[in-house]
Amino acid sequence: MVDVPPVVLDRTSGTALSVQLADALRSAAAAGTLRPGDRLPSTRELAAALRVSRTVTAAAYDQLLAEGWAAGRRGVGTFVVGAVTASPARSPARPPVARPPAPGRLDLRPGAPCLEVLDRAAWRRAWRAAGDPSPDAGPEPAADPAFARAVTEHLLRHRVLAAGPGDVLATGGTSTAVAEVARLLPPGSRVGVEDPGYQRVVGALRDAGATVVPLPVDRDGLVVDDVPSGLAAVYCTPAHQFPLGRRLSAARRVALVARARAEGWWVLEDDYDGELRYDVAPLPLLGALGPDVVVHLGTTSKTVSPTLGVGWLVAPPELRAAILARRTATGTRPARAGQRVFTALAESGDLARHLRRLRRELAARRAEVLKAVAAGGAQAEGDPAGAHVFVPLPEPVAEESVVAAAAGRGVAVDGLGRHRTAPGPHRPAAGLVVGFAAPARADLARALPVLTGALRDALG
Ligand SMILES: Cc1ncc(COP(=O)(O)O)c(C=O)c1O
Repeated sequence: MVDVPPVVLDRTSGTALSVQLADALRSAAAAGTLRPGDRLPSTRELAAALRVSRTVTAAAYDQLLAEGWAAGRRGVGTFVVGAVTASPARSPARPPVARPPAPGRLDLRPGAPCLEVLDRAAWRRAWRAAGDPSPDAGPEPAADPAFARAVTEHLLRHRVLAAGPGDVLATGGTSTAVAEVARLLPPGSRVGVEDPGYQRVVGALRDAGATVVPLPVDRDGLVVDDVPSGLAAVYCTPAHQFPLGRRLSAARRVALVARARAEGWWVLEDDYDGELRYDVAPLPLLGALGPDVVVHLGTTSKTVSPTLGVGWLVAPPELRAAILARRTATGTRPARAGQRVFTALAESGDLARHLRRLRRELAARRAEVLKAVAAGGAQAEGDPAGAHVFVPLPEPVAEESVVAAAAGRGVAVDGLGRHRTAPGPHRPAAGLVVGFAAPARADLARALPVLTGALRDALG
């Protein structure tokens, strides 16, 4: 049997330990440190040597066995197989952005829309209708006029925000819009972001030259009193905190807008799934409470599909003017195709029908997830809204072990660690972020028992 390979696992990385371990063993084989025929240590020995749970080592071995890099049988041992080609490159410093699941994997990670309930005939009709207007409409740095009208209607109907078409700018989606705002700030400006929070926005801000300041979140959303001074902007998800799933309390909304006015912050309101509240009407938008300081951001990525590549922004006039000036100077503008498809969906009534269907479907799926989580001995948290729940766990080792065990059985689920910006210790200490929109309903039914089993094993 070979010695325990020199494996370094990064517990602060967003990548599951089992995935890191499987990568390291593949790399060792590629580098010749492990040779075909070498017998690997048992999962128990390797777990003890690396100070990880046995679920982690077992999941890594299962992965290598499934890929054909290793062969073996319980009781006999696990052996390295054949010549090895390049391993998938993975650096520990890689930002924790979502990866596509391996083929055949069931995906319970948050972020994806629920395409199963998207009426494909309505989708095709909208794309055909998008081809009707003249193709040479010219560049439009603000928004396609019909799109701006459709968004105004949409905001009034679904989000009770009274904005005029002139107040709306089309965007390429939320992360793009955040980057556009950040590029208007002096380089190095400090921008606060909820932690845990949406890591694509963290990436977009850093890429635009901002300094990201992690902000604490609790059961009432962003802890406004603990936001430090000296910021240029604050990004938050008030309707449904991502990923903990609570909404920002009314008192904190008022406090946030008051501080923004007093301290000169822009507040970036990411309303990524505000249309998907399925019990009570959502609280009024920050954009309605503080139209002079709030940049309201909407997207079609969660409610329809990221294929449209379109969202919108409602902001105070001086900020809109600055964005437009920059778009004009740099020749960047949101593509009109996605705007036209969204407009066609809205004008035909298909969007409203889709949203009703989507809310019903997501409510039913959420009930199934809550049941599966409870059967595993845990309790899901978050408001009855959107397409994910948060499941608190007592400690990071339990999180790692559930993620690894589920991955080993073909189910991708996110640990809370993937949504962290700053190193720990944290509150909540650990947990899972379970998305339920991406898989087909039948696949969800296959994935949930795996989640239940993984939770049960980890929680004992
Ligand atoms: C918190 C949050 N905001 C926004 C988005 C959508 O971003 P975009 O419009 O850039 O696709 C998502 C999608 O996963 C999200 O999870």
